[in-house]
Parts: sequence; structure tokens; C-alpha cells
Amino acid sequence: MTGWRNLIHCEDALAGLARIPDDSIDLIVADPPYGLGKDYGNDSDKMEADAYLRWTEQWIDAALPKLKASGSLYIFLTWRYSPEIFVMLKQRMTMLNEIIWDRRVPSMGGSIRSFSSVHDTIGFFARQKGYYFDLDAVRIPYDAETKKARSRSIFVGAKWLELGYNPKDVWSVSRLHREHPERAEHPTQKPLEIVERIVRASCPPGGVVLDPFMGSGTTAVAAQRCGRDFVGFELNPAYCAIIDARLTAPEAQLTAQGNQPTEPVRAKLTSIKKGSRKKAAADLTPANSAADPAQQALAFDNLVFDNT
Ligand SMILES: C[S@@+](CC[C@H](N)C(=O)[O-])C[C@H]1O[C@@H](n2cnc3c(N)ncnc32)[C@H](O)[C@@H]1O
Repeated sequence: MTGWRNLIHCEDALAGLARIPDDSIDLIVADPPYGLGKDYGNDSDKMEADAYLRWTEQWIDAALPKLKASGSLYIFLTWRYSPEIFVMLKQRMTMLNEIIWDRRVPSMGGSIRSFSSVHDTIGFFARQKGYYFDLDAVRIPYDAETKKARSRSIFVGAKWLELGYNPKDVWSVSRLHREHPERAEHPTQKPLEIVERIVRASCPPGGVVLDPFMGSGTTAVAAQRCGRDFVGFELNPAYCAIIDARLTAPEAQLTAQGNQPTEPVRAKLTSIKKGSRKKAAADLTPANSAADPAQQALAFDNLVFDNT
């Protein structure tokens, strides 16, 4: 495959991954269906447990050979299947962290026979010992008050005080509720703040990030904002149209490197409403697109993407 960077393929990841060259990817960010029955406009989240775990093993085995030796993988999961999937990955990679994403705002409703779940689980895995990791790119600056409290002469000019602190493994970032300025029309869109941290820490500048399950394209937008390339797949044509709109919005362009706080990506993204999803889906119905998934991907690439 030539010119495969900075393309989103509207296609089944299992089919498309085969075309990505082996040992070419710096970072995989995977946010697969969680096996919770969510509606992504397809049946991808409606598998029985056994089938879901078999399918998970299949895409993992298709994706991992694409990683460079220095590469790593982050996977978003919930408590429901993270134990099984972490075991699967630990047989193939080294586990470095279980990051807890505290979504802050619990989903509405929930059980009265157990505790409300308010976190996602993000597994961080590396292929080898010499994996790329740039902690300095994601340190959190100390606030003025903390710095003032450390004003005794022994602290003045201390590197750690200037660089900021390690974000640790509990990330407290609000989920993107309906009114959130970053929100697009996708039920499980992830906040840029989280994905940008992953990209800055684990993909070198100019490197390439693979996301097999793009959804609304958060990984692609994060990569672009951080000066990295991306490649990915998404089954639902309506979500592919959202990704295109997000990538071309001014807020999705390259931002300053370093310890810059993430600027929220604002209104334009929230204006991508159901109408445009339907239109995008109609534009890509079988009458307008090839039945062959590979050709469908090409057709879609020609239609909206070529950011190289
Ligand atoms: C959890 S969501 C990803 C959300 C994304 N991280 C975001 O921030 O918007 C999973 C996505 O995977 C897509 N999907 C499911 N099965 C797929 C497959 N086999 N190939 C490609 N995409 C798939 C679904 O349509 C859904 O949009």
C-alpha cells in the first residue's frame, strides 16, 4: 500500500488492517465496541460474550504486527471485559499501566443493586523494553500556589518543579455530555484531552498513530493537532463524514507543542447533527458505492480524505 498515511477507510478494520505495512506504526489507540450493546448504526456491539472475545483476539492479532518494535498500544475498555482482554494482551505484550479514566459525570440511571460505574479502563502495553515514551511531553505544570509553597532555596530551579508532575494513572476528565462544546454525534466519543496525552507520550513527533475503530475520529484529530500522522478504519459511513468535518475544522489543526493545555474543539463540531449523518449515509448507500469493502474504502478516500 503506498500513500497509506492520513487516510480514514470507511471499512471493516479486519479487512483493512491487512493492507497496512508491518512494522510501520508507532502507536495503536484502540477504542473498540465494549460488548455492551451500544448502537453504532451497526451490530458491532451486539455480540455474545464468546463471539466478542474471539473477534477481539482476531483484530488484536491483525493489528499487533503493524507496530514498530518501539511501538505501544492503548486500549479503552470497561470492567466488563478488561480482565479477559488484558490477559490476551499480556500473552503478546508487556503491560505497563492500567489507567483509570474517571469520567466524572456518571451516566444517567444505572443499577440500584450495585454501584454506579464512573470509569473506563485504559490498558497501556508495549512490544519491547525500548518502547518510546516521552513523559516530559505530558507533564502537568504545577500551579503558582504550589510553586510558591516550594520557594525555599533548595527548590529554586529544581527541574521537577519547572517541568511539572507525572499525570499518574487516574485521569479525571469529564465525559463529553450532550452540551459539551467538543461533542459530535457519536455515543462514545472520547475527550481530546485524554487521547492527546496518549499521543504526545507514546508517539514521536512525525510518527504515525493507528486507530482501528475511529468512531468520530478523536484519534485522527488528536494526531493532527499534535503533528503526528494517522490511519484508521470506521464501519459507519455517517461517522466517517463526522471525522472528515472534524479534521477540516480550524480547531483540529496543529497546535503548539509541549505542555500546552488542550484547547477545547468548539462549536463547529457540535453543529454536525443528525441530518448530515443521514445525508452522508445516503451518499454512501450501495447505489453510490461499491459493494466490495476495499473499493468502498477507496471511493470514500477519494470523496473526502487526502490529507497527505
Ligand atoms: C467505541 S467507538 C470509538 C469511539 C472513538 N474513540 C471516538 O472518540 O469517537 C467504536 C467504533 O468502532 C466502530 N466499529 C465497530 N466494529 C468495527 C469494525 N469491525 N471495523 C471498523 N470500525 C468498527 C463502530 O461503528 C464505532 O463507531
